[in-house]
Amino acid sequence: MVAVSSKDEGLRPPVHVAIIMDGNGRWAKARGLPRTAGHKRGVDAVRTVIEAAGKLGISYLTLYGFSSENWRRPETEVRDLMGLLRLFLRSQIADLHKNGICLKVIGERNRLAPDIVRQIEEAEALTAANNGLVLTVALSYGGRQELAEAARRLAADVAAGRMTVDQIDEESLGARLYTAGTPDPDLIIRTSGEQRISNFLLWQSAYAEFVFVDTLWPDFSASDLEAAIGTFQRRERRYGAAG
Ligand code: IPE
Ligand code: IPE
Ligand code: MG
Repeated sequence: MVAVSSKDEGLRPPVHVAIIMDGNGRWAKARGLPRTAGHKRGVDAVRTVIEAAGKLGISYLTLYGFSSENWRRPETEVRDLMGLLRLFLRSQIADLHKNGICLKVIGERNRLAPDIVRQIEEAEALTAANNGLVLTVALSYGGRQELAEAARRLAADVAAGRMTVDQIDEESLGARLYTAGTPDPDLIIRTSGEQRISNFLLWQSAYAEFVFVDTLWPDFSASDLEAAIGTFQRRERRYGAAG
């Protein structure tokens, strides 16, 4: 058997890029603007990056938009963020669909407002058959919550006699995560200089490459994405094997 060397693999773009979009508040603060202004500009960066990801040959793009812990922010900021989400869904879905993008939303959906859930369900149904970029948006998402939910589902299946305890393995657990059917991220980018995972894709990131950049999310451009991919391509992935 001829082994595919990780060097050859490195020349291809990552199949799945996930981004922790951080730094909207600091972007606004540096300009003496309210945090909402940073979030608004952050939405512009989202549009730019979705377009760039398609052009760069990425198949899956996952964006961390709102964490389970972000509900702890002041009510006014949460309200502004939900308003921007509504606006994004209302104004962008037709365009995403036209561009062949398949939209998926992961997270604790029952914590979102009913009208937002409806918009999400409609957008997912509209774009489900598209075969372009798979865009996953993590909203009210937490990796620990996702794993707890998967554990509950496994326990329910065992209790109902649909499976045995012995059948619990990486595959059966992975199949009960929100991300079932999507390959694990190859590259995780975090903006704004912070170097932590903040409860994002804890299970799925087992062998992801991390790239941390100082750029604040509203300033993140197509060339920043390209540069992060270049860094990824120079890395050697070993997956525990000898180097
Ligand atoms: C990221 O920017 C957006 C969300 C988490 C919703 P922040 O709002 O966290 O911005 P900073 O980290 O305070 O600069
Ligand atoms: C992570 O950013 C969540 C998103 C980008 C949506 P935070 O700004 O919430 O993370 P911490 O609090 O700095 O870890
Ligand atoms: Mg932040």
